[in-house]
Amino acid sequence: MNRSAIDWDALVDAATDARSNAYVPYSTFPVGAAILTGSGRIVVGCNVENASFGLCICAERVAVDTMVASGEREIRAIAVVTGAPSPTPPCGMCRQVLAEFAQDIPIHLASTVPGTMARTTSLAKLLPDAFRGDMLPSHEGGAS
Ligand code: THU
Repeated sequence: MNRSAIDWDALVDAATDARSNAYVPYSTFPVGAAILTGSGRIVVGCNVENASFGLCICAERVAVDTMVASGEREIRAIAVVTGAPSPTPPCGMCRQVLAEFAQDIPIHLASTVPGTMARTTSLAKLLPDAFRGDMLPSHEGGAS
């Protein structure tokens, strides 16, 4: 599937629905994410916070983990929806987790604030020169 074939409206709708399930008593900043998988399915995530703040997990990583748990390991695209005045990109930790299951993918950022312009960026732009598993000495054919 090429970039233009991605149904961003479907991904944004799925991410917006997932955002309504976010558990955010501390930040009150709900986030929804929707991944288009290698098989063409949509898998979603929302952020889930914890009284022990370091245990909070972002919507994007919940979506990646749900994708893996459902038997898929390829991300074709992701949409992220927040209620910020302008669309917000994934945090650094999420960028690295996305890079585990994607090379360069389009990342679509949208806001629920009326009149906000969505924008599309890419994983390569947000995380250039990513550290990858095939750089590990333990990887077959990798550095020793
Ligand atoms: N958060 C996400 O879920 N995704 C992002 O891309 C940025 C931040 C969450 C983490 C926390 O629950 C809240 O937003 C405030 O940082």
